[in-house]
Amino acid sequence: MIEFKLNGKAVSSKADPNTPLLWVIRDEIGLTGTKFGCGVGMCGACTVHVEGISIRSCSFKLKMAKGKSVTTIEGLNNAHPLQAAWAQEQVPQCGYCQSGQIMQAATLLEANPNPTDEEIVQHMQGNLCRCMAYARIKKAIKVAATNTSSVQYFDPRSNADEGVMS
Ligand code: FES
Ligand code: FES
Repeated sequence: MIEFKLNGKAVSSKADPNTPLLWVIRDEIGLTGTKFGCGVGMCGACTVHVEGISIRSCSFKLKMAKGKSVTTIEGLNNAHPLQAAWAQEQVPQCGYCQSGQIMQAATLLEANPNPTDEEIVQHMQGNLCRCMAYARIKKAIKVAATNTSSVQYFDPRSNADEGVMS
C-alpha cells in the first residue's frame, strides 16, 4: 500500500506501484479534473503538483508519490487567483487542457509573481491547447499576477487533515 497526501488529505492506494499517478487520482480516488491527453508526458493535460512542483501525472509512477504532498486542480478549491483570472478572461474553449494549464501556471506564479511575456511562454510551452487559446492563457496569467499581491494562495499542504479517502 502506498500512502500520500492528496489535496491536504491522507490517502492510500493498493494499485501496482508502477501505475501512473493519473489513474490512481482519476479512477481510484475519483478526482476527474486532471485529464488524460497524450499519455507520454508531452501535452500537459495531466499536470498536478508534487511537493509544489508541476509534474505530468501520466508519466509519474504511484510509488514516486509515496509520502509526498500531491495537489490537483480540485485542491486549488476555486480559490486561486488564476481561476478568477481564467473566468474573467473567458479562457477555455473546449476546456480539456485547462486544468493542466492552470496547474502549470500556478507553479510559475509561485516562483515568479510578476513574470514577463517571455517567461510565461517559456514556462507554459509544454502545455498544449488544441483550441489555440494561448493568447487568452497568457493574458489570464498576467491578470492573475497583478492580483496576487493582495490575494493569498490556497495551499492545501497547510490545510491537511488526517481523513483517509481510500
Ligand atoms: S496526458 Fe500526461 S502529458 Fe499528456
Ligand atoms: S481549450 Fe480546448 S484544448 Fe485547450
